[in-house]
Amino acid sequence: MFERLNAPKQDPILGLTLAIMADQRSDKMDLGIGVYRNAEGATPIMAAVRQAQREQAENQTTKSYIGLAGNETFNSALIDLLLADTAAHSRAAGIQTPGASGALRMLAELIKSARPDATVWISNPSYVNHRPVMEAAGLKVADYTYFDVATKQVNEAAMLDQIATLGEQDVLLLHGCCHNPTGADISLQAWQRIAELAEQQGFLPFVDIAYQGFGDGLMEDAAGLRLLADRLPELIIATSCSKNFGLYRERTGAAIVVGHTLEESLKAKGRILEVARGSYTMPPDHGAALVAAILGRDDLKTLWMDELTVMNQRINHLRAELVRQFRDRSDSDRFDYFGEHRGMFSVTGLGNEHIDALRVEHGIYMVGGGRMNVAGLAERDIPRLVDCFLAVGA
Ligand code: LMR
Repeated sequence: MFERLNAPKQDPILGLTLAIMADQRSDKMDLGIGVYRNAEGATPIMAAVRQAQREQAENQTTKSYIGLAGNETFNSALIDLLLADTAAHSRAAGIQTPGASGALRMLAELIKSARPDATVWISNPSYVNHRPVMEAAGLKVADYTYFDVATKQVNEAAMLDQIATLGEQDVLLLHGCCHNPTGADISLQAWQRIAELAEQQGFLPFVDIAYQGFGDGLMEDAAGLRLLADRLPELIIATSCSKNFGLYRERTGAAIVVGHTLEESLKAKGRILEVARGSYTMPPDHGAALVAAILGRDDLKTLWMDELTVMNQRINHLRAELVRQFRDRSDSDRFDYFGEHRGMFSVTGLGNEHIDALRVEHGIYMVGGGRMNVAGLAERDIPRLVDCFLAVGA
């Protein structure tokens, strides 16, 4: 039966992780997959998560099923975290999903049910899983202009010109903050313009927000999304607790739908639940139960927010150090983009020959396309990283 299958394609990020594990060099640098590491190079369990976990182990009384939508306290808490005090808040409905990729897939299936001929527009470049997930649901996918490799910034004028041509058959997939892979985010003025264009042209904004709190702060990172939520009648959102709660392997995310009315949102939620029933049935409970416990209690929430601030400050400190040390050693400001980007990643603009040379000669691993996980860097490694970049001709 299986003899006719094609050899599977290797995922560019997960494949790299295997190569890094196989590399025996003690000074290898893993700047590939998006995980946060602290100064010791570890991806620790956050203290708030640890405490919630301890309490859960003591107090949980059953492992019986919860329901297709998962933990509804978690769903409401994430809606609050993203949309509190916006006009959309009272019309939003949420579904717990296995990670944000699960949310992307469920929302893609919702689009396919509601608008079978829709085209989903993704940024060029975008998260490597955006296109495969949308296509797996049978949707058409097209690129919109985004990153300018020369300036390492978003070409907002070209992006907005293209978005102005979208219409009712189109869905615009936006990164809520900390753009993956580039690290280059759009301005609030651009979000404002997108809201106006969505109102005029009738396309549906779809916001993927996987790094809330890793850029400029929890509220600041949701500002663009909240602007859309205040103005627009319809909006869909995929969100993740992998990074900001450090719950990567627990696969904890949510799909949120905002319709014209709460009734419409609940209808859309019902459609997603049908799709979930036809695939994985229910999301795993553990991570969502921890997040619900943390967001539901002032002491745990404060502890979590303080830890998140430390992580955020560390990333921005690493960015500032990269700028400083590249300036010193290259005698130029051409690496200043590290300080302008936000979140875990920066696209460095390095070509494949540079990336290969860094990997082969120096054991420095980055994803193809030149994405570097700044949040995975140890501060003590920055001088060697800078030297190696310059040695390979970057
Ligand atoms: C990444 O982009 O490195 C992460 O979001 C991991 C993933 O799910 O691909």
